[in-house]
Amino acid sequence: MPVKVAPSILAADFANLQSEVEMLNQSSADFIHVDIMDGLFVPNISFGIPVTEAINRHATKPLDVHLMIQNPDQYLEAFRNAGAEFISVHIEACPHLHRTIQAIHALGAKAGVAVNPHTPVETLSDILMDLDLVCLMSVNPGFGGQKFIENTYNKVRKLSAMISETGSNAEIEIDGGVNTENAPKLVECGADILVAGSFVFKSTSPSATIQELKA
Ligand code: DX5
Ligand code: ZN
Repeated sequence: MPVKVAPSILAADFANLQSEVEMLNQSSADFIHVDIMDGLFVPNISFGIPVTEAINRHATKPLDVHLMIQNPDQYLEAFRNAGAEFISVHIEACPHLHRTIQAIHALGAKAGVAVNPHTPVETLSDILMDLDLVCLMSVNPGFGGQKFIENTYNKVRKLSAMISETGSNAEIEIDGGVNTENAPKLVECGADILVAGSFVFKSTSPSATIQELKA
């Protein structure tokens, strides 16, 4: 199975969101990655629920919503209603992660957990069976266009082994600094989904770049 690609709309032209979404609809992208930042959990603010709804009105691909926010429990239903197919919360923001994951599933969405670069994948051992997705951050969350952190390869390998051992169905998503240089090695280590923001949207042909990442 070719690797799945989830372009991050964070790097799109926000003044032309409809045409950016239509471009993704026509491309071989598998998901649209939607980065939500609250200025508290991360030192930046992106956009919120109404913009997610607007993206969803035009999108024919499932929305993969990445909540980089404190107290995500308060907003799960709103993002589900805004069209989220996948909802990922940060392990660092969830003291009652098991309850949060159950709440996401109760809304009929797929549940993901995102982990910061310093957070060991081993902390997921007792929740892995309940997850549809693990989002490994390969940059510190908050900004697009940052440099890929090399230690991510070790984390993908470890997580991939944990998933095989436990029989979990969780897919491994890599988020931050992904490009055609690191993609092959990420896939070789066990990545299932690659998020790519600036590498896709700053390229001369975003849809050709999505195709290159898949290849
Ligand atoms: C980082 C976000 C990423 C980011 C990826 O905080 O979660 O999804 O937009 O963008 P690039 O591919 O530019 O690193
Ligand atoms: Zn993201």
